[in-house]
Amino acid sequence: MLKHPLKPFPFSDRLKSIETQTNPLTLKKEKLIRKGITILDLTISNPTQSSFKYLDQNLLEAFQNHANLTYEPDPLGLLKARQEIINYYANKGVPLKPDQIILTANTSEAYTFIFKLLMNSGDELLAPAPSYPLLDDLAHFNDVAIKRYELQAQNDWRIDLDNMNALATNRTRGMLFIHPNNPTGNYFHSSERQNLADWLTQKNLALIVDEVFLDFGLEPSYRKNTFADFKDVLTFTLSGISKVLGLPQMKLSWIVVNGPEPLLMNALDKLSIISDTYLSVSTPAQNAFHDWMKCVDTIQDEIRFRVSQNYARLVKEISGAKITVHTWQGGWVIPIRLPDTLDDEGWALALLESGQVLTHPGYFYNFADGVYLVVSLLVPEKIFAEGLVRIIKIVNAVSCTSQAYNA
Ligand SMILES: Cc1ncc(COP(=O)(O)O)c(C=O)c1O
Repeated sequence: MLKHPLKPFPFSDRLKSIETQTNPLTLKKEKLIRKGITILDLTISNPTQSSFKYLDQNLLEAFQNHANLTYEPDPLGLLKARQEIINYYANKGVPLKPDQIILTANTSEAYTFIFKLLMNSGDELLAPAPSYPLLDDLAHFNDVAIKRYELQAQNDWRIDLDNMNALATNRTRGMLFIHPNNPTGNYFHSSERQNLADWLTQKNLALIVDEVFLDFGLEPSYRKNTFADFKDVLTFTLSGISKVLGLPQMKLSWIVVNGPEPLLMNALDKLSIISDTYLSVSTPAQNAFHDWMKCVDTIQDEIRFRVSQNYARLVKEISGAKITVHTWQGGWVIPIRLPDTLDDEGWALALLESGQVLTHPGYFYNFADGVYLVVSLLVPEKIFAEGLVRIIKIVNAVSCTSQAYNA
């Protein structure tokens, strides 16, 4: 017996609007697993669960370093780790100074720091739809309001700056895009950089560019197309080794800050105060970074090979089927468009029930229109191929049945 009755605790309102109920797809998946049924999971985008050869003992040898016994924190991150990032961008033709780089444990933390730097509670960020599902929660937990600008398939998912005018208000502080976007795979077109610079300058907005998938473009030229050198407005370019080295468990990401002086210096000073409050990047990861970067080409080649094989198979297999893919330039996942016989969740449930194939419904990613599922191209080729065969079979069967009903 408690001495005093337990009173309800007034937790913060931030969690009130967060969906806590398990969605029907996860419920169905759990039910199948309980029954011992094997599921072909086409949603896995965790590289450490995707049977890659680069994940071997050699990567762990970098931890046998005496420097790991010393803690000498730097608010920006250890200089030698920032030096690696300088080399990474130098290979893309972009010269940077160490003071322009701030290390974070992951990209979510990078977003958090930037929101704390730029925005007061209720200020707005323009962000794409569809895009990275975690954005809503990240903004919400930092009291930032997201305003969505829509990317249209018929426009190759390109950003339409004219539409953006209507969205920006006096509370808007920045614009974000993901380059290439997750899940649509489009890079920001280099020919539109000047228009972007003019528009952002006119509106006095900062730019945030999430480039975690930059190196995973179908064309090698896309990989050099970084915004780290964009300096017309205050610009924050985000990346990290969760994708660049396929090592999400090692927790090392970064923000490159660029922009016109003296704004840049001012922003860096403030950002380093925020970062100094957390100091969350582990010393062993920073010390190991140099050795890991020696493997960057091997790792990226292996991942790119897998992604391009699966992409090629997808394009080949769906020709003649009732599934389409739009222009796709890079990343680890891809949206596939299905007939509107069912909605996206309906399709995902039907594929799981009838084919034991797990996909993500488009609404996870805020697709504005069209019926889409999102599949991962990181999945081992054999599983991807088998999953695809089942998807095509079920989509054809369901579409034919509904056509017969409608006739
Ligand atoms: C666009 C985008 N940014 C960031 C991340 C996460 O990166 P991190 O592991 O560094 O938080 C993801 C994860 O899939 C992503 O899709």
